[in-house]
Amino acid sequence: MGFSKSLIQWYLQNKRDLPWRKTTDPYRIWLSEIMLQQTRVAQGTPYFVKFTEAFPTVHDMASAPEEHILKLWQGLGYYSRARNLHATARQVAFEMGGTFPNSYAGLLKLKGVGDYTAAAIASISYGEPVPVVDGNVYRVLARYFGIQTDISSSGAKKQFTEVAASLLPKDDAATFNQAMMEFGALQCVPKNPDCSVCIFNKECAAFLTGRVSMLPVKLKKTKVTDRFFNYLIVKDAAGHTIVNKRTAKGIWHNLYEFPLIETEKEVSVDEMSMIIGRYFADEKPPRPSGASRHGGTGSPEEGKASPAQVAFAPKSITLLHPERILHKLSHQHLSIRFWEVEFGNVLSNAISIEEAMKYPFPIVIHNFMEKHWRV
Ligand code: ADE
Repeated sequence: MGFSKSLIQWYLQNKRDLPWRKTTDPYRIWLSEIMLQQTRVAQGTPYFVKFTEAFPTVHDMASAPEEHILKLWQGLGYYSRARNLHATARQVAFEMGGTFPNSYAGLLKLKGVGDYTAAAIASISYGEPVPVVDGNVYRVLARYFGIQTDISSSGAKKQFTEVAASLLPKDDAATFNQAMMEFGALQCVPKNPDCSVCIFNKECAAFLTGRVSMLPVKLKKTKVTDRFFNYLIVKDAAGHTIVNKRTAKGIWHNLYEFPLIETEKEVSVDEMSMIIGRYFADEKPPRPSGASRHGGTGSPEEGKASPAQVAFAPKSITLLHPERILHKLSHQHLSIRFWEVEFGNVLSNAISIEEAMKYPFPIVIHNFMEKHWRV
């Protein structure tokens, strides 16, 4: 039996029962594929269920405020996907009468829909014979055929797309594409795959030559930046706090956070306490140890205390946990400290804890809030 037939047979026997596999509705397929980019099925599935309950149609999603979308997306990461999701829903609902384009070429015109997502929707919803090529597909094909091409090189996508297209059965693209994804997710996994039980272990080039762990080849390593964040959890005389929207481009765009002081390197607890004191006391403080009032890439307003707040000096400044919290994003490693900054007076721009919890926050901040306030 050839590769495609064997793969499809494996898929029909091993596929998981997933909610988006019960439909060909392009709205649901689109939603699932956006959610599953850079996200595992186990993590993405509850979000898919939540979103389809909250927004049964593209019109429901289009007419929701962005903050509602971001709040439901909270914890899934890569928040640009959520903002693009909303923009696309509006495009489909308001400019296309609520109907998704019915071809690969048409789908590519949607915001946030690239080759991979367009191919997934076109094949799964409409049976169009276009191959999907994502990380799973690179891995399966590189190993099975022993392809040595660096998958981060410019020509890789074209080469792998051609190989996938040559294998794709024209009358069952939907099953084949999903079988490739599922095989990569369950059997041909990145680390320590159990090749002893693999249906291809008599023909897989990588297995037969002992190169499974070396394929696919990826030479370009992602560059990771270290950042040091100090979040100031203000507590005024009414027990209220201050939150700001991150309006600058970069991580967590349009999400909320506490007033932020970012430093270029680790700063001792004593020095940081002084910096925080000056932050509130002084409208234009000096910047010892590279401390800035806002994120390095942020706008001048980002994380900055408003004038109402800086008019008063804090009563106390307390580090809320001894260890830094490490939060890893794909290109940034964040080292985070939360400080409580107490004021003896009422601050006009502070809001209640219940109100604050309604906003969409990065999950690392949300988790801290839940623990800290036990709400
Ligand atoms: N990863 C990306 N798309 C997927 C899908 N439709 N099913 C399972 N895993 C996926």
